[in-house]
Amino acid sequence: MAYQTLIVEIEDSVALIRLNRPEALNALNSELLGELADALKQLDDNDKVRCIVLTGSEKAFAAGADIKEMSEKSFVEMYTSDFFGSEADSLLRTRKPIIAAVAGYALGGGCELAMMCDFIICAENAKFGQPEINLGVVAGIGGTQRLTRFVGKSKSMDMHLTGRFMDATEAERSGLVSRVVPVAQLVPEALAAARKVASKSAVATMVVKECVNRAYETTLREGVLFERRVFHALFATEDQKEGMSAFLEKREPQFRDK
Ligand code: CAA
Repeated sequence: MAYQTLIVEIEDSVALIRLNRPEALNALNSELLGELADALKQLDDNDKVRCIVLTGSEKAFAAGADIKEMSEKSFVEMYTSDFFGSEADSLLRTRKPIIAAVAGYALGGGCELAMMCDFIICAENAKFGQPEINLGVVAGIGGTQRLTRFVGKSKSMDMHLTGRFMDATEAERSGLVSRVVPVAQLVPEALAAARKVASKSAVATMVVKECVNRAYETTLREGVLFERRVFHALFATEDQKEGMSAFLEKREPQFRDK
């Protein structure tokens, strides 16, 4: 998989996607987001791949949407092209788990991209922010909605209205990220987490992803009912029989995604 703005590597059952526009701190332009959508589709369709890690460089996960590309656009151009809408939705269309490994800046669209992954592991130097207010605009790929659900209204308003950055400690304390690790450990830690996810039943991991995401889309009552029904449905899989037999027989399960 050869791209201009991404480096994609597959090792065993885990794919690592690196955003690679160092000259612009991985700012998200049409080319990068188009390539990312293509890579995610191919990895989702690739039976060998069971979990995906998305990362940037040590200096920047991504410093936001590309301001040079956007600055001269008109409302009509932005609206009719649904600027970044369908490319960004490619993360939501991916059914395999995606882990964001964030070092350095994750600003604007970069923070939004990380939040569209299934969970975020960040390095001690990570800086999250939604500084679009400084450009006279608002977040455009879900920041006002997702950050509010992650960290609550007060902190989300603070971030969006003042444009201030949140460091790794605050991000972990607020529930934006699941773990903070030293910079050098970021990719190894994310790959180890991905290998752990990849060792589970692929059917069950897809179901977990669907259930947790449902928590953001529906009422508690409907979400709990949805979870109960798919919990019941997993008893139709061979992997449920294997997982429970393995526990009772005190051995490691051999999942076959059936
Ligand atoms: N778009 C385009 N280019 C960018 C960029 C962006 N979002 N962020 C950084 N760059 C470029 C800079 O223009 C610079 O390029 P040149 O060397 O050619 O001038 C290069 O990356 C390095 O950046 P800096 O020299 O600014 O590096 P720094 O270490 O001094 O500062 C920074 C780093 C604080 C991240 C600063 O670059 C910055 O504030 N970037 C913009 C952040 C931002 O506003 N993001 C939101 C974008 S809008 C958005 O994302 C909307 C949405 O929701 C979809």
